Amino acid sequence: MHYTTLGRTGMRVSVAGLGCGGFSRLGLGTGGSEEGAIGIVRGAIELGVNLFDTAASYGTESVLGKAIKSVSRDRVVVCTKAPFRWSTGRATPEGIVGALDNSLRQLDTDYIDVYQLHGVPPANYRHALDELAPVLLRERDKGKFRFLGITETAPHDLQHETLHQAARDGAWDVAMVGFSMMHQNARERVFPLTREHRVGTLLMFAVRNIFSQPGRLQAELRQLADGGQVAAALAELDDPLGFLIHEDGASSVVDACYRYVRHEPGVDVVLFGTGSPAHLKTNIDSLLKPPLPAADHAKIGELFGHLIGVGLDAPHLSNSRPRT
Ligand SMILES: NC(=O)c1ccc[n+]([C@@H]2O[C@H](COP(=O)([O-])OP(=O)(O)OC[C@H]3O[C@@H](n4cnc5c(N)ncnc54)[C@H](OP(=O)(O)O)[C@@H]3O)[C@@H](O)[C@H]2O)c1
Repeated sequence: MHYTTLGRTGMRVSVAGLGCGGFSRLGLGTGGSEEGAIGIVRGAIELGVNLFDTAASYGTESVLGKAIKSVSRDRVVVCTKAPFRWSTGRATPEGIVGALDNSLRQLDTDYIDVYQLHGVPPANYRHALDELAPVLLRERDKGKFRFLGITETAPHDLQHETLHQAARDGAWDVAMVGFSMMHQNARERVFPLTREHRVGTLLMFAVRNIFSQPGRLQAELRQLADGGQVAAALAELDDPLGFLIHEDGASSVVDACYRYVRHEPGVDVVLFGTGSPAHLKTNIDSLLKPPLPAADHAKIGELFGHLIGVGLDAPHLSNSRPRT
């Protein structure tokens, strides 16, 4: 495993972070058992992963808590998130203390490393900063968590308005941001600011469904070609990203996706979600490989650098809305 420093938190974290949400939820989202989910977390620890991201809404806090009992608490960095309703302003600031206490109980731990507001829409950002952050920082000072974080709601914040502001406000030590081969604008909108202010970054949406489900990429490209956003010839190919796969390049599309985001300046930890022991291993291998060849990287920019918001599907959204 390779380790890096998570911004101004100073914590040493693995560059590969296990996401306990998304469509997989450690396999619980696709019919897997609790035992299997615990096996995924423990397998990740054995491979050197020390950062785990969960949330009240994922239903995986208690599983994560059980799984990490196999190691001493200071060997893992546990990140979790407040329920959405606080991020969207539909609750009293005091109520969030109850949510934090509940996460501590679910995780069965004395402290959380990074406590995050989950998916804060731009319209609710001032509420998060002015009403919620002060309450939470008092709880941090009591030792309930170590660092405050914020995550964007990628499908509803295509220009990263929330993080564009949050990176500069000093309250948030960690930011979770969406970035992928087909949603690259964090490069201009977020990373220069998080680097300047030393905010640690956790990356999401590297693969999601568009790059992992057969046929999804082709369907998306056909829609984009219909809208004049990509060349029609590209959409007609059976294997539109086939140019990335060659002896000196990527071994698969998913391999290319993780390597593409991993080496972006400003990215600290790449979160990946899986319920599969085989994917756990290959994804970590991908994240430890060198960058994609320069020519392939440049071609991804040429073909998709202008796209915004492609592939940002969420479990509660039936489709992602591509925009340029
Ligand atoms: N706003 C927010 O706060 C927010 C939003 C989104 C995500 N997140 C965080 O980011 C984490 C990562 O997001 P994500 O879960 O969507 O991760 P992801 O790595 O972008 O995509 C994971 C999906 O790809 C599949 N997959 C993974 N490796 C594969 C491989 N080698 N080959 C084929 N398919 C593969 C997984 O299914 P398998 O189970 O079959 O591997 C899963 O469906 C989440 O778990 C969560 O912690 C936070």
